[in-house]
Amino acid sequence: MLLKIHILSRVHERCLSTSLPAAQSFRKWYQQLWTTERTNLPPYDHFTQVGDPVLRGHAADVPTDYVKSKEVSEIVEQMVKVLRKYNCVGIAAPQIGISLRIIAMEFKQSIQKELPEATYKARRMTELPLTVFINPQLSVTNYTKHKHPEGCMSVRGYSAEVERYEAVKLSGLNQEGLPTELELSGWNARIAQHEMDHLDGKLYIDHMDTSTFICTCWETVNTKSGRVEIPFYK
Ligand code: CO
Repeated sequence: MLLKIHILSRVHERCLSTSLPAAQSFRKWYQQLWTTERTNLPPYDHFTQVGDPVLRGHAADVPTDYVKSKEVSEIVEQMVKVLRKYNCVGIAAPQIGISLRIIAMEFKQSIQKELPEATYKARRMTELPLTVFINPQLSVTNYTKHKHPEGCMSVRGYSAEVERYEAVKLSGLNQEGLPTELELSGWNARIAQHEMDHLDGKLYIDHMDTSTFICTCWETVNTKSGRVEIPFYK
């Protein structure tokens, strides 16, 4: 019982240290990330996993005065590093343990070679150069819905079909802190909707078609007699 209470209080501590209450100054909050007793501190170089309270909180806006700060540019740098290390297409700050409204997306041309042409076309995939949004807002510009399989690096090892809108417009600040807007459609609109959900503590599993939820390595589990592990580190 004592152990349980101890664990709960640690979880509570962790919630406090990774969220940004309105009354707390950004700098004080940021410094506290580095001064707790925890040995591995955010911004992490791995993806936080479902269960981590940081993935379920409502991320705070980056205060205007800090948009161009060293701290925020370090967070963005780390997000891009993790995005590319895991070879994925989108990342939100809570996924590296930072409860701030920042997303980064990148859809490389090279992915086309890794997928069957029919899949690439059906999902309406197109190249998207590295795009960073600070304090982004999303508006839907085409309400037609499309259902395709989707995964998330914070729900490692699984996938499911999810309905997303055809086209959206993102507005916010770019990496340099300048106001920017971007219209996205097809798969890139899907990435934007997925990453925006992360900022509100939502995961694709909250609105997936549950009957399509699969372990991505279920066939290998059979062929390898169960000797398969889902990697959380790359
Ligand atoms: Co995700």
